[in-house]
Amino acid sequence: MSAQFPVARPRRLRRTPALRRLVAETRLSPADLVLPMFVKEGLTEPAPIASMPGVHQHTRDSLRKAAHEAVEAGVGGIILFGVPAVKDERGSAGDDPDGVVQVALRDLAADLGDATVLMTDLCLDEFTDHGHCGIVTADGEIDNDATLERYASIAVAQAEAGSRVVAPSGMMDGQVAAIREALDGAGHEELPILAYSAKYASAYYGPFRDAAECAPQFGDRSTHQQDPANADESLREVFLDLDEGADMVMVKPAGAYLDVVRRVRDAVDVPVAAYQVSGEYAMIEAAAEKGWIDRERTIDESLISIRRAGADIVLTYWATEAAHRCVS
Ligand code: PBG
Repeated sequence: MSAQFPVARPRRLRRTPALRRLVAETRLSPADLVLPMFVKEGLTEPAPIASMPGVHQHTRDSLRKAAHEAVEAGVGGIILFGVPAVKDERGSAGDDPDGVVQVALRDLAADLGDATVLMTDLCLDEFTDHGHCGIVTADGEIDNDATLERYASIAVAQAEAGSRVVAPSGMMDGQVAAIREALDGAGHEELPILAYSAKYASAYYGPFRDAAECAPQFGDRSTHQQDPANADESLREVFLDLDEGADMVMVKPAGAYLDVVRRVRDAVDVPVAAYQVSGEYAMIEAAAEKGWIDRERTIDESLISIRRAGADIVLTYWATEAAHRCVS
């Protein structure tokens, strides 16, 4: 007996790769991808990061080479993290004009100009000897407002060294306003701020702390980063940052917070970024190394999922590799 109405056949549009490509709702292009890179002062050879196979702490020269490769692949941006030779309690290397990030930025700005967007992570944890994202008081607390002064100064140092987007990641209250005011006061009214607005206190940052040598020496970051149990709070953080002058907002990590990415995307009209963090990278690389998953397919699926959730921009350690694949 034939059905009274034609049976719906969604499979019709899945029959061939060409049809699937034609009707794909979400696409990934190299321009959406941002590559996080690490540069370490005093290195003579690039140093592999054990927990992030394929990722290195770079020397000045190897950074230039890898950045050039990212640009060749069409990557939309690079975000720079620096590991200084000397750390102290106030993170002095962070705003030193000859600090590792500023030196590397000047190299990249000279080599690459505006061929990609040179961004800088703006925080203190890579520069402090205690590994915290701010100034620590005598009783071991992070002093919000003393930290803002440091962030303001780092922002200006990064701007003067050629950063094209500063990305504050410390989750201090009022950081976007403090940085905006400092940048404007120093004549950098045109420099955009990408705020890490919804940044969670996440175990997925583990491998990054090896890469940036910034594991907290005591305590953790849960008095300033968000509780993984909360999502409404992300919207409050995002709106505060937009009120303070953020030009773009970020959700971090990405994979475990796709609901938050979607909610933020639906709530705002600025570009939304999501950061696929070190632990997300490490898990896929480790499982692939054991032969338990198909490495390329899993990487591509993880990235398209972040886009599908609503991120316009994806920060990923696979940016160069994925950029090659998505144009092929
Ligand atoms: C802080 C910062 C962190 C990451 C980016 N910026 C670490 C942290 O908050 O502890 C993590 C990125 C990653 O895990 O890939 N400067």
